[in-house]
Amino acid sequence: MTIIVTGGAGFIGSNFVFHMLNKYPDYRIVCLDCLTYAGNLSTLAPVMDNPNFRFVKESITDREAVYKLFEEEHPDMVVNFAAESHVDRSIENPEIFLDTNIKGTAVLMDACRKYGIKRYHQVSTDEVYGDLPLDRPDLFFTEETPIHTSSPYSSSKAAADLLVLAYHRTYGLPVSISRCSNNYGPYHFPEKLIPLMIANALNDKPLPVYGEGLNVRDWLYVEDHCRAIDLIIHKGRVGEVYNVGGHNEMKNIDIVKIICKELGKPESLITHVTDRKGHDMRYAIDPTKIHNELGWLPETKFEDGIKKTIKWYLDNKEWWETIISGEYQNYYEKMYANR
Ligand code: NAD
Ligand code: DAU
Repeated sequence: MTIIVTGGAGFIGSNFVFHMLNKYPDYRIVCLDCLTYAGNLSTLAPVMDNPNFRFVKESITDREAVYKLFEEEHPDMVVNFAAESHVDRSIENPEIFLDTNIKGTAVLMDACRKYGIKRYHQVSTDEVYGDLPLDRPDLFFTEETPIHTSSPYSSSKAAADLLVLAYHRTYGLPVSISRCSNNYGPYHFPEKLIPLMIANALNDKPLPVYGEGLNVRDWLYVEDHCRAIDLIIHKGRVGEVYNVGGHNEMKNIDIVKIICKELGKPESLITHVTDRKGHDMRYAIDPTKIHNELGWLPETKFEDGIKKTIKWYLDNKEWWETIISGEYQNYYEKMYANR
């Protein structure tokens, strides 16, 4: 079995590469990643010498490079993690999101059509459903919830999802889609809420909470997401969408307070800053389908997952300090100065 994993030098993709190489010693995993600001080759250092692993530095939008890779590897499956993934960056500059997230998905699926594939899996997001009101805790996203996006990022992911379903109906491509809630864990890029707050707290820097911090996200430990995708590509039905989430809704402000407590830092570091434009209020996944059909359940409780995550950032300072000392400085200043 040969699987092309795109975006495998990023947060969830790298965790998925590790999961697959550990669990399936006879699988070949080929990581296709063009190493944007969010991709780190150092993340993949532990598997670089594994004979079942190959890293290829190319973009999913480069048709020629993608076709060449298919000719070389004859993949059985493609799991597409590669994307521009940060909502705030999409608000600043939508264009690259359209190119990578929509065109890149089409190029990968064209290659699958041309060379044949057992499964094309699209890693999507709960953000395609828009948001839920805070005063209706009885409402959850199901796979039937209409697509109703808020940001350029989520719109580009929704467009990609629709293309994937269209390639299934029109060309009979054997596809599946997972729509997961917010992940956290090792190798999470420090522009995102949890790693940003950990890094800033460790450096005694202000903790910038957007607005009042009452927005709710449904947090899932990254390994639980990887297990869900593993199940879907092997046992999930072709042409289907599976929501992935662990009923772990938390307000942003509460997450930041937990991080302060775990690190022994004062809550006075918390600074309320201007809210995100079009900020989604609440995400909440109903995971009944993946539970009933594939027996998936999250295994890591948030209390344990956040401790493990904080410990990982304490033990791997070099990884994130290198990131935040480079180009990221300019990004941070632009995004947070005078906010
Ligand atoms: P990330 O930003 O950490 O990593 C993205 C990776 O894709 C990077 O390694 C980057 O170099 C690579 N990449 C970007 N453009 C590329 C291109 N044109 N060609 C090849 N590689 C390219 O992202 P993440 O948080 O790991 O998210 C991975 C996927 O999961 C995304 O599709 C995202 O939409 C989805 N998702 C993320 C979350 C989450 O909480 N982070 C939740 C649900 C779904
Ligand atoms: O729900 C899945 C999505 O989760 C994925 O599709 C995206 O790729 C991923 O980036 C994530 O999107 P969010 O916008 O929910 O994640 P982020 O970490 O950027 O923000 C989480 C919440 O924290 C959100 O309500 C905004 C808020 N926030 C974020 C940052 C970076 C702050 O209050 N301050 C911050 O500095």
